[in-house]
Amino acid sequence: MEYEQQYQFYLNQIETRLHEIERDVWNPESQISKAAFYSLLGGGKRIRSILCMAVCDMLGGPLKLACEYASALEMVHCYSLIHDDLPCMDNDDFRRGKPSCHKAFGEAQALLAGDALLTGAFEILACAPCAHAQQNVEAVKILSRAAGCCGMIWGQELDLRFEKEAATEQQLQTIHENKTGKLIDASAQLGAVAACADSSSIAVISDYAFSIGLVFQIVDDILDVTATSEVLGKPAGSDQENGKTTFVTLYGIPRSLEMAKEITEKACSDIRKKFGEKAVFLEKLAYSLLQRNK
Ligand code: IPE
Ligand code: IPE
Ligand code: MG
Ligand code: MG
Ligand code: MG
Repeated sequence: MEYEQQYQFYLNQIETRLHEIERDVWNPESQISKAAFYSLLGGGKRIRSILCMAVCDMLGGPLKLACEYASALEMVHCYSLIHDDLPCMDNDDFRRGKPSCHKAFGEAQALLAGDALLTGAFEILACAPCAHAQQNVEAVKILSRAAGCCGMIWGQELDLRFEKEAATEQQLQTIHENKTGKLIDASAQLGAVAACADSSSIAVISDYAFSIGLVFQIVDDILDVTATSEVLGKPAGSDQENGKTTFVTLYGIPRSLEMAKEITEKACSDIRKKFGEKAVFLEKLAYSLLQRNK
């Protein structure tokens, strides 16, 4: 299958599954339920899902299980965005082309909608069918570590801390690695767990994922400056408004792009060395994340 077809195939699977989850867990009396699915089903590039499914596919694993794990990843990611947009954090009023969750439903509801998605994600992992119990336990362990106080939450904490003071290169790297990289790494690793991958494969896949995660956030920093809010579906210029240190403030756009390109090239060459032709989708995915415009 061509890259675009393959991409669309993964995307359809994940969108279908997320809609099923909405049907299964919807509480018609709950405003929080409405707020959570307003955000979860309202667009999003689903790159974490695509990565999870593509890794599993490359390793010959069952896509149904990868899709289940991918749904949990999207729920955790979406919770992080809902909270990230709150006035106490980045204070952004738009997300995925429509009012942010707190703008549409109020702050308390958005807070709880995020909580509901985070909690729900672990139910999905715990109950994932067609897996050995040990695989689901491993998936829970990977995702909870990546999202927690030594992962995404740590990155978000540092991101806020360094609004008041400029971050050094090393500090910015740590912020990006944690706030964005860890969940992207977890996405690849869950794909590997679904496929029962061996530890040497997991190590190479994890290096690749960290690299593309860093590139993803470098490009996010650049787009915040170069793209329009209409194209992004979220407010452009938010970083400057919040006084963030970003790749753009530290290195400027040309050097940031150069660094992103170098990291992508290395990631692709390493993954190809290990998996050969089978890695072609992951290589193309890495370049599409480098070249994305939203
Ligand atoms: C936005 O993530 C937050 C970052 C980590 C940069 P995405 O750009 O993947 O957001 P959606 O899911 O497509 O809306
Ligand atoms: C968000 O980073 C990372 C998480 C939500 C964990 P950003 O604050 O840069 O993401 P956007 O630009 O609002 O999507
Ligand atoms: Mg933020
Ligand atoms: Mg933000
Ligand atoms: Mg950003």
